[in-house]
Amino acid sequence: MSNRIAVVPGSFDPPTLGHVDVIRRAASLYDHVHVLVVHNPGKEAMLPIAQRVSLLEQSILEDGMDAGHLTVAAWSMGLLVDYATDVGAGVLVKGIRSQVDVAYETPMAIVNRHLAGIETVFLLPDPSHALVSSSLVRQVAGLGGDVSPYVPGPVARFLDTGARGI
Ligand code: PNS
Repeated sequence: MSNRIAVVPGSFDPPTLGHVDVIRRAASLYDHVHVLVVHNPGKEAMLPIAQRVSLLEQSILEDGMDAGHLTVAAWSMGLLVDYATDVGAGVLVKGIRSQVDVAYETPMAIVNRHLAGIETVFLLPDPSHALVSSSLVRQVAGLGGDVSPYVPGPVARFLDTGARGI
């Protein structure tokens, strides 16, 4: 298990500019970063997991960050820490926007450490992304609003095309 390999897990439904910001920061800190789309049984999904993987790959490319040491993958069966252990990662990286996120993430971080000895590192995204969440984007997009200020270009184009039924 290496502390130089990290997993950035999330629902990414859809990926937001805040997610891309955290991925870019993680990529600058670790030798290899696995961006992992995980099924969250507590949330009703908008996009299929394969679509989220594709949008993340496109968003990472469009951002221009060094993608050479990034892997985007999906995980729908089993514990997140099983994936991390399989790829030799010793660290999970999560973005924290507020105290609400701290309260949400803390129990998961403790459980993941108990389960497999894997630590969670919290990164602070740029404050300009502090109010952006996938659930807000889902709501605005579902009601026909413009989500382009909150999501990467590939996601904005995909949601706009989908909304117009093209
Ligand atoms: O973006 P999200 O929805 O906040 O991500 C939460 C997610 C998917 C990372 C979390 O629900 C998760 O880790 N699910 C995998 C199942 C698991 O390992 N659960 C036990 C430890 S929390």
